[in-house]
Amino acid sequence: MVAARITVNGKETPISPAPAHTTVLDFLRERGLTGTKEGCAEGECGACSVLVARPGVDRPTDWVAVNACLVPVAALDGQEVVTSEGLATADASGTPAVLHPVQEEMAVRGGSQCGFCTPGFICSMASEYYRPDRCAHADRADGSGSGPADGSGSEHGPNGFDLHALSGNLCRCTGYRPIRDAAYAVGMPTEDDPLAQRREQSPPDPAATAYTQDDSAFLRPGTLADAVRLLRERPDAVVVAGSTDWGVEVNIRSRRANCVVAVDRLPELRALHAGSDHIEIGAAQTLTEIERRLDGAVPLLAELFPQFASRLIRNSATLGGNLGTGSPIGDSPPVLLALEASLVLADADGEREVPLCDYFTGYRQSVRRPGELIRAVRVPLPLSPVTAFHKIAKRRFDDISSVAVAFALDIEDGTVRKARIGLGGVAATPIRALATEAALEGEPWTERTAEAAARVLRAEGTPMDDHRASAGYRTAMLGQSLLKLYARTTEAVPS
Ligand code: FES
Ligand code: FES
Repeated sequence: MVAARITVNGKETPISPAPAHTTVLDFLRERGLTGTKEGCAEGECGACSVLVARPGVDRPTDWVAVNACLVPVAALDGQEVVTSEGLATADASGTPAVLHPVQEEMAVRGGSQCGFCTPGFICSMASEYYRPDRCAHADRADGSGSGPADGSGSEHGPNGFDLHALSGNLCRCTGYRPIRDAAYAVGMPTEDDPLAQRREQSPPDPAATAYTQDDSAFLRPGTLADAVRLLRERPDAVVVAGSTDWGVEVNIRSRRANCVVAVDRLPELRALHAGSDHIEIGAAQTLTEIERRLDGAVPLLAELFPQFASRLIRNSATLGGNLGTGSPIGDSPPVLLALEASLVLADADGEREVPLCDYFTGYRQSVRRPGELIRAVRVPLPLSPVTAFHKIAKRRFDDISSVAVAFALDIEDGTVRKARIGLGGVAATPIRALATEAALEGEPWTERTAEAAARVLRAEGTPMDDHRASAGYRTAMLGQSLLKLYARTTEAVPS
């Protein structure tokens, strides 16, 4: 096996002797690339953002911005990374001489004061700059804006720049208006732009990695069969996909693993296809990939994604990871419960399918056995036509929910034929609101029914007081979310 190495700004660098838990951020900074900053070390500020060449959705390669503080450098064995230093064009001596168009706009529009956050903003902006389907308003055939189906079109610039690309970047001193001005002023990549040209070639293949340093190992098996065999041999292994959860444990809680097994590039976990009776989503597809590939085909998921953390996190996070960690406040479980999703679990003995409503057994516990992987999530078809996802949190983006409620209703001739409601943040696990579902089914979809069902919904779960919200607030929000859904389905109300 070839020694683990990473290509940074076009230069191949061995990963050894970095300890196996070393993050990309620390690896870069220790090699002098100090443009990449550490603000929070837990995926919330974006100061560490860098670009990685990944398999593209519309072209062979996408330049994807990720949080370097969360990703182990060994996870990028064989991969290509570009930092803020690598975006500028260098002169013959290797010194950056001509600013990248994104850097230029940030400079001339006053998008940087102390500069601490700036390289991270630059990399997130550059990722959006190179998004293949970014399209200026004037170039759109229908003359419309370039906003997505979720109605957030007002957050796209005239150049098609999606401001959500910066939802994971925080700035403490400049203020966001000049940064937005810069984002909305960038043009389109020129034909001779080397990073634009790079999109037309395939990304690096995922390297099967066995990187060991000081008795700690980072392993990337090449196939699902190898992965489940390895997990049977190493029951102590920590399984990671995007590492957005494990990276926080390593940085903030100083946790270390003897063995980390990466499953995010396993081909068997990366499919996404629609059959006649279900859509199967590979557990290691990133949320951004799912969002772009489904393109609104599952409206409830389309409503979820913009509210899930930030674009930077969604560029790495996976459904398998969100379900695997089993957090009671994960954003995807309420939605997937309302969609009646099931999980395909795989181990060395084969596969089994488990309805998500039977998956969680306790706080961060599930029926998943040691050595079992989540291979895929299946969403049954047809979809219920009336859906909504209400995430109640202190911030609109890049936040953790206090309460999350997902609805999927079949309403025919004014009567609720079927109701599925998923809840997060009101019990030790994500749960279905079974009593409320029963209170709705067979009833006319009227204000009276909604109010009666809202009373039932307020009594679901066992909400607690904590630093995010009181139990009383959570209870009140449950009922309000059903009344809000009713109002939205029966009259036009401002959002
Ligand atoms: Fe804040 Fe990485 S240092 S997101
Ligand atoms: Fe100072 Fe953004 S320029 S934090």
